[in-house]
Amino acid sequence: MEPQLTDVAPTDLAFRKVEPDDDLSNLDFTQEDNTDEAGLVEFITREALDYQNERLGITYVFFYRLSPIAFVTLSMADIPVKEMTQDEKVDAAEQLREYSCLLVGRLGVDKTFRERHVGSYICDWVTEKARRLSEDVGCRYIVARAVKESVGFYSKCRFQCNMEHLGKPRVWMYKRLI
Ligand SMILES: CC(C)(COP(=O)(O)OP(=O)(O)OC[C@H]1O[C@@H](n2cnc3c(N)ncnc32)[C@H](O)[C@@H]1OP(=O)(O)O)[C@@H](O)C(=O)NCCC(=O)NCCS
Repeated sequence: MEPQLTDVAPTDLAFRKVEPDDDLSNLDFTQEDNTDEAGLVEFITREALDYQNERLGITYVFFYRLSPIAFVTLSMADIPVKEMTQDEKVDAAEQLREYSCLLVGRLGVDKTFRERHVGSYICDWVTEKARRLSEDVGCRYIVARAVKESVGFYSKCRFQCNMEHLGKPRVWMYKRLI
Protein backbone atom coordinates (compact mmCIF):
# COMPACT_ATOMS: atom_id res chain seq x y z
CA MET A 1 0.00 0.00 0.00
CA GLU A 2 1.19 3.57 -0.84
CA PRO A 3 2.24 5.53 2.26
CA GLN A 4 -0.21 8.33 3.11
CA LEU A 5 1.19 11.80 2.43
CA THR A 6 0.58 14.25 5.22
CA ASP A 7 -0.73 17.71 4.39
CA VAL A 8 1.71 20.58 4.48
CA ALA A 9 0.72 22.70 7.50
CA PRO A 10 -0.25 26.26 6.52
CA THR A 11 2.00 27.50 9.36
CA ASP A 12 4.99 26.03 7.49
CA LEU A 13 4.14 28.01 4.35
CA ALA A 14 5.20 31.55 3.53
CA PHE A 15 4.92 33.54 0.33
CA ARG A 16 6.19 36.65 -1.39
CA LYS A 17 6.42 38.08 -4.89
CA VAL A 18 9.04 36.58 -7.18
CA GLU A 19 12.41 38.37 -7.01
CA PRO A 20 15.33 38.57 -9.47
CA ASP A 21 17.57 36.26 -7.39
CA ASP A 22 14.98 33.51 -7.02
CA ASP A 23 16.07 30.27 -8.66
CA LEU A 24 13.26 27.79 -9.16
CA SER A 25 14.98 25.95 -12.00
CA ASN A 26 15.63 22.81 -9.90
CA LEU A 27 11.91 22.39 -9.15
CA ASP A 28 9.71 20.16 -11.27
CA PHE A 29 6.42 21.67 -12.38
CA THR A 30 5.73 19.20 -15.20
CA GLN A 31 2.68 16.95 -15.33
CA GLU A 32 2.84 13.39 -14.04
CA ASP A 33 3.90 12.18 -17.52
CA ASN A 34 6.70 14.81 -17.58
CA THR A 35 5.02 16.93 -20.27
CA ASP A 36 4.52 20.63 -19.68
CA GLU A 37 1.35 21.53 -21.58
CA ALA A 38 0.84 24.69 -19.53
CA GLY A 39 4.43 25.92 -20.16
CA LEU A 40 5.13 26.40 -16.45
CA VAL A 41 8.84 25.58 -16.55
CA GLU A 42 9.58 28.05 -19.36
CA PHE A 43 7.42 30.65 -17.64
CA ILE A 44 8.95 30.49 -14.16
CA THR A 45 12.56 30.22 -15.37
CA ARG A 46 12.45 32.85 -18.15
CA GLU A 47 9.31 34.96 -18.20
CA ALA A 48 7.82 35.53 -14.74
CA LEU A 49 10.01 38.51 -13.82
CA ASP A 50 9.36 40.33 -17.13
CA TYR A 51 5.62 39.69 -16.79
CA GLN A 52 5.79 41.14 -13.30
CA ASN A 53 7.86 44.20 -14.30
CA GLU A 54 5.45 44.88 -17.18
CA ARG A 55 2.47 44.31 -14.85
CA LEU A 56 1.13 41.54 -17.05
CA GLY A 57 1.07 39.09 -14.19
CA ILE A 58 2.28 39.12 -10.60
CA THR A 59 3.91 35.89 -9.45
CA TYR A 60 3.84 34.77 -5.83
CA VAL A 61 6.35 32.14 -4.74
CA PHE A 62 5.36 29.85 -1.87
CA PHE A 63 8.02 28.53 0.50
CA TYR A 64 7.98 25.47 2.74
CA ARG A 65 10.34 26.18 5.65
CA LEU A 66 12.34 28.65 3.51
CA SER A 67 12.55 26.44 0.38
CA PRO A 68 10.49 27.42 -2.68
CA ILE A 69 7.96 24.73 -3.60
CA ALA A 70 5.15 26.40 -5.60
CA PHE A 71 4.06 29.53 -7.41
CA VAL A 72 0.96 31.23 -8.71
CA THR A 73 0.63 34.09 -11.22
CA LEU A 74 -2.33 36.46 -11.04
CA SER A 75 -3.73 38.94 -13.58
CA MET A 76 -6.91 40.92 -14.17
CA ALA A 77 -9.01 39.35 -16.92
CA ASP A 78 -12.44 38.96 -18.53
CA ILE A 79 -14.24 35.66 -18.88
CA PRO A 80 -16.47 35.32 -21.97
CA VAL A 81 -20.07 34.76 -20.85
CA LYS A 82 -20.50 32.12 -23.57
CA GLU A 83 -17.87 29.96 -21.84
CA MET A 84 -20.08 29.65 -18.77
CA THR A 85 -23.36 27.91 -18.02
CA GLN A 86 -26.63 29.77 -18.68
CA ASP A 87 -27.36 30.24 -14.99
CA GLU A 88 -24.32 32.53 -14.60
CA LYS A 89 -25.96 35.22 -16.77
CA VAL A 90 -26.67 38.45 -14.93
CA ASP A 91 -30.10 39.71 -16.05
CA ALA A 92 -29.28 43.29 -15.10
CA ALA A 93 -26.29 43.34 -17.50
CA GLU A 94 -27.59 41.60 -20.61
CA GLN A 95 -25.36 43.68 -22.89
CA LEU A 96 -22.13 42.37 -21.35
CA ARG A 97 -20.27 39.71 -23.33
CA GLU A 98 -17.59 39.26 -20.63
CA TYR A 99 -17.51 39.43 -16.87
CA SER A 100 -14.63 40.78 -14.78
CA CYS A 101 -12.46 38.26 -13.02
CA LEU A 102 -9.09 37.51 -11.50
CA LEU A 103 -7.12 35.02 -13.58
CA VAL A 104 -4.96 32.29 -12.10
CA GLY A 105 -2.66 32.47 -15.11
CA ARG A 106 -0.16 29.90 -13.89
CA LEU A 107 -0.14 27.60 -10.86
CA GLY A 108 2.49 25.01 -10.14
CA VAL A 109 3.44 22.83 -7.19
CA ASP A 110 6.79 21.00 -7.25
CA LYS A 111 6.27 17.28 -7.89
CA THR A 112 7.72 16.21 -4.54
CA PHE A 113 5.09 18.31 -2.72
CA ARG A 114 1.97 17.30 -4.66
CA GLU A 115 -1.12 15.72 -3.12
CA ARG A 116 -0.41 17.46 0.20
CA HIS A 117 -3.01 20.22 -0.29
CA VAL A 118 -0.54 22.95 -1.20
CA GLY A 119 -2.36 23.67 -4.50
CA SER A 120 -5.76 23.90 -2.79
CA TYR A 121 -4.27 26.10 -0.05
CA ILE A 122 -3.05 28.47 -2.78
CA CYS A 123 -6.50 28.45 -4.43
CA ASP A 124 -8.10 29.37 -1.10
CA TRP A 125 -5.51 32.12 -0.64
CA VAL A 126 -6.28 33.49 -4.13
CA THR A 127 -10.02 33.32 -3.40
CA GLU A 128 -9.60 35.44 -0.29
CA LYS A 129 -7.43 37.92 -2.16
CA ALA A 130 -10.02 38.17 -4.98
CA ARG A 131 -12.89 38.61 -2.49
CA ARG A 132 -11.11 41.53 -0.85
CA LEU A 133 -10.28 43.02 -4.27
CA SER A 134 -13.88 42.64 -5.42
CA GLU A 135 -15.05 45.08 -2.75
CA ASP A 136 -12.99 47.84 -4.41
CA VAL A 137 -12.80 46.77 -8.07
CA GLY A 138 -15.43 44.90 -10.07
CA CYS A 139 -14.41 41.25 -9.96
CA ARG A 140 -17.07 38.55 -10.04
CA TYR A 141 -15.02 35.35 -10.47
CA ILE A 142 -11.63 33.78 -10.13
CA VAL A 143 -10.91 31.83 -13.28
CA ALA A 144 -8.34 29.46 -14.70
CA ARG A 145 -7.91 28.14 -18.23
CA ALA A 146 -7.35 24.54 -17.24
CA VAL A 147 -5.45 22.00 -19.32
CA LYS A 148 -7.25 18.66 -19.25
CA GLU A 149 -4.86 17.24 -16.60
CA SER A 150 -5.81 19.99 -14.12
CA VAL A 151 -9.62 20.02 -14.55
CA GLY A 152 -10.02 17.50 -11.70
CA PHE A 153 -7.87 19.59 -9.38
CA TYR A 154 -9.80 22.81 -10.05
CA SER A 155 -13.09 20.95 -9.59
CA LYS A 156 -11.89 19.86 -6.15
CA CYS A 157 -11.14 23.53 -5.45
CA ARG A 158 -14.83 24.28 -6.23
CA PHE A 159 -14.30 25.78 -9.67
CA GLN A 160 -17.02 24.94 -12.20
CA CYS A 161 -17.02 24.74 -15.98
CA ASN A 162 -19.45 24.45 -18.85
CA MET A 163 -19.41 20.68 -19.36
CA GLU A 164 -20.03 21.14 -23.10
CA HIS A 165 -16.50 22.57 -23.37
CA LEU A 166 -14.76 19.72 -21.58
CA GLY A 167 -13.22 18.22 -24.76
CA LYS A 168 -11.32 21.43 -25.63
CA PRO A 169 -7.53 21.64 -25.05
CA ARG A 170 -8.19 24.35 -22.45
CA VAL A 171 -11.38 24.80 -20.46
CA TRP A 172 -12.46 27.99 -18.69
CA MET A 173 -13.06 27.10 -15.06
CA TYR A 174 -14.58 29.66 -12.73
CA LYS A 175 -15.52 30.23 -9.13
CA ARG A 176 -18.03 32.96 -8.35
CA LEU A 177 -16.96 35.26 -5.53
CA ILE A 178 -20.46 36.27 -4.37
C1 LIG B 1 -2.47 20.76 -10.39
C2 LIG B 1 -1.53 21.01 -9.19
C3 LIG B 1 -1.29 22.51 -9.02
C4 LIG B 1 -2.20 20.43 -7.92
O1 LIG B 1 -1.40 20.73 -6.79
P1 LIG B 1 -1.43 19.82 -5.48
O2 LIG B 1 -0.75 20.57 -4.40
O3 LIG B 1 -0.91 18.47 -5.79
O4 LIG B 1 -2.99 19.70 -5.20
P2 LIG B 1 -3.73 19.40 -3.80
O5 LIG B 1 -2.92 18.42 -3.01
O6 LIG B 1 -4.04 20.69 -3.13
O7 LIG B 1 -5.08 18.71 -4.31
C5 LIG B 1 -6.39 19.11 -3.88
C6 LIG B 1 -7.35 18.00 -4.27
O8 LIG B 1 -7.32 17.84 -5.69
C7 LIG B 1 -6.93 16.51 -6.04
N1 LIG B 1 -6.05 16.61 -7.23
C8 LIG B 1 -4.81 17.15 -7.29
N2 LIG B 1 -4.34 17.10 -8.55
C9 LIG B 1 -5.31 16.49 -9.28
C10 LIG B 1 -5.42 16.16 -10.66
N3 LIG B 1 -4.42 16.44 -11.53
N4 LIG B 1 -6.57 15.56 -11.08
C11 LIG B 1 -7.59 15.29 -10.21
N5 LIG B 1 -7.54 15.61 -8.88
C12 LIG B 1 -6.41 16.20 -8.45
C13 LIG B 1 -6.18 15.97 -4.83
O9 LIG B 1 -6.21 14.57 -4.77
C14 LIG B 1 -6.95 16.63 -3.69
O10 LIG B 1 -8.14 15.91 -3.47
P3 LIG B 1 -8.74 15.73 -1.97
O11 LIG B 1 -9.02 17.13 -1.47
O12 LIG B 1 -9.95 14.89 -2.15
O13 LIG B 1 -7.64 15.08 -1.15
C15 LIG B 1 -0.17 20.26 -9.36
O14 LIG B 1 -0.44 18.91 -9.64
C16 LIG B 1 0.68 20.80 -10.47
O15 LIG B 1 1.49 21.72 -10.26
N6 LIG B 1 0.54 20.24 -11.70
C17 LIG B 1 1.33 20.63 -12.86
C18 LIG B 1 1.00 22.00 -13.35
C19 LIG B 1 -0.49 22.25 -13.60
O16 LIG B 1 -1.19 21.43 -14.19
N7 LIG B 1 -0.97 23.42 -13.15
C20 LIG B 1 -2.36 23.84 -13.29
C21 LIG B 1 -2.65 24.45 -14.62
S1 LIG B 1 -1.69 25.90 -14.96
